Amino acid sequence: MSTINIKNKEFELFISNNDISSIVKSIAQDINTTGVKDPLFVAVLNGSFVFAADIMREITIPNAKISFIKLSSYSGTKTTGQVNKLIGVNTEVKNRNIIILEDIIDTGITLEKIIALFEKKNVADIKIATLLFKPEAYTKDIPIDFIGRSITNDFVVGYGLDYDEIGRNLPHIYKLKN
Ligand code: IMP
Ligand code: MG
Repeated sequence: MSTINIKNKEFELFISNNDISSIVKSIAQDINTTGVKDPLFVAVLNGSFVFAADIMREITIPNAKISFIKLSSYSGTKTTGQVNKLIGVNTEVKNRNIIILEDIIDTGITLEKIIALFEKKNVADIKIATLLFKPEAYTKDIPIDFIGRSITNDFVVGYGLDYDEIGRNLPHIYKLKN
């Protein structure tokens, strides 16, 4: 299907599952050849669950482990306003070589928060791998180590990515029709 509808919005086929598969293999190959020792992959839920499952099966580094995190935002007390907290990480990240797995990096606000929270936990190193990256929307200076594909500033769904929680199960990636 080259066009789909979600909640009265029309999306068109953007990256097929075959192309996604090649992109994922290529990121995995880059990671495999960088010489990261005993990596702890950290997949950021919910969006990256499909990407994480696929890329992990292409990783050949000995002793590779995977863990999952979710970012929770809640109202802080008084002036602090919104505070983010990592759910699912414990002290075992100390002195580990972390490789963050993201489905998509847009403004980079989420990424910046994740990195700040990990730095507090005294990890040895943090690298970032993302399936998709929107360079026109990115507002941060944090270098992204592994990028699957840079895309235009369009809204996309499928392969873990959602529109209002819908569409994560789609095997292909679709973009919102203008
Ligand atoms: P950022 O903090 O602006 O980089 O946004 C990151 C998060 O926003 C991602 O992890 C996604 O959950 C969501 N997001 C950004 N762009 C898209 C998109 O095109 N489709 C679906 N979700 C998106
Ligand atoms: Mg996400």
